[in-house]
Amino acid sequence: MNVIQRPVFAIDFGTSLVKFGPVWRGRYPDITDNRGYFPKISKVSAEIRGIKAEEVVVGPEVSEYLESKADLSRLHYPMRNGVVERDDVRGWKVILKIIEYALRKYYPGPRTPEGEPFCGFFLVVALAAQSPVYMYERMFDIVKEVNSSFGGGLVKAVTIVPQPLAVAISEKAVTCTVIESGHGNTQITPISRDVIRSALIPLNRGGSDSDRITAQILKDLGYSDLAREEKFVKNFKEMVGLVPRELKSSIEWTKSHPGAVKSEFSIPGTTVKIDLGDKAWMRFLIGEYFFNPSHEVFQSYYIRGFTPPKDTVVGGEVIPGSVDLGDAVRIAISKTPIEIQPALLKRIILSGGAFNWKAPTGLEGIAVNSPEKLRILLKARGMDSSPAMIRDPQFSVWRGAIVYGTYIPEDLSWDWSSMEGWLYLE
Ligand SMILES: Nc1ncnc2c1ncn2[C@@H]1O[C@H](COP(=O)(O)OP(=O)(O)OP(=O)(O)O)[C@@H](O)[C@H]1O
Ligand SMILES: [Mg+2]
Repeated sequence: MNVIQRPVFAIDFGTSLVKFGPVWRGRYPDITDNRGYFPKISKVSAEIRGIKAEEVVVGPEVSEYLESKADLSRLHYPMRNGVVERDDVRGWKVILKIIEYALRKYYPGPRTPEGEPFCGFFLVVALAAQSPVYMYERMFDIVKEVNSSFGGGLVKAVTIVPQPLAVAISEKAVTCTVIESGHGNTQITPISRDVIRSALIPLNRGGSDSDRITAQILKDLGYSDLAREEKFVKNFKEMVGLVPRELKSSIEWTKSHPGAVKSEFSIPGTTVKIDLGDKAWMRFLIGEYFFNPSHEVFQSYYIRGFTPPKDTVVGGEVIPGSVDLGDAVRIAISKTPIEIQPALLKRIILSGGAFNWKAPTGLEGIAVNSPEKLRILLKARGMDSSPAMIRDPQFSVWRGAIVYGTYIPEDLSWDWSSMEGWLYLE
């Protein structure tokens, strides 16, 4: 079999979304929530209603179970900051079910859509770069279990790739710094061929932190009920949040130009209308918080009990959770050999949904996109660099994982010291 025809299947496990699918999906993966529902339903009642009594349900079927708000406590999201706790029994059940759901959905039968005989997928699982070894071991065990409960032939071999490395691969970058930021975590990852593990900084920061500040703002504006609905808050953040070029001057400009920055929003498909009144400038707090939660403006929030993102400890050093992203990049790169620092600084790649901010036309003077914001933060720390945003930032890890699976040699078997190669199942 030549390399192009290898049936690679990639799964990128995100804190909120799993991106998955075989190589023949082309540019875009399939997506499902990284969550499972543990129904209360009894076997008898399930049979009467004609549904299978599953211990845990994943995929689009979950919404069928979410009939009432009380049921939300039976929903389990297995990952925090990209990691599943070792003894989170429910969490691992959800991971198993999702892998099973994803693979079965695309099982092609005896031949692939390209007409090649199908003898099992080459499965690439993309995990956060800071994943502990037990995550690797569990993933391998789960894939074996899924394959044998299928009766074999679903997965031929499996490998695991760190998410930022997958991004570097999809960009064909050898020496670079990848910043992968999703819903739950931000991995600042210097890469020179492989991830430089001693320089990796996994921050407890992501889109979910922008959600928290958005909820607080909604509460302060008198929309407490809406602030409790997670999905609503997330959509509102994506629609309304802006990244300021420089927070204080962006706020001042907005205050002195009433009406220039939109303040009334109707939420599509609902009856909800939100009016920020003369507080349209608050839209900038949402974007700033993600890049720089240590800005003095947020002090008033912390005093009222709102908490900054949690600290991370790397190699015995405490990185404050509220560090600005420019400084975090400086710290990560400073941990690498001086010889490669210029190359790491020169090529900074932004990836992940949390960088998806847009600057509305007409507001370019005060609102910026993510690469420009990071450029400004780096400049403030004395570093010159023009970070670049990857295309389709939410799907770059999946795409890179497909490329990775296509090119690692079939005869390279999994090696625990280099953490690469294929683990064959049969
Ligand atoms: N246009 C947008 N503006 C702001 N945020 C956005 C936008 N689009 C997506 N996001 C945010 O991106 C996040 C999801 O990104 P992504 O799918 O990369 O995360 P994930 O892979 O589930 O999590 P992680 O990689 O942290 O484990 C969500 O918080 C979402 O609100
Ligand atoms: Mg992700």
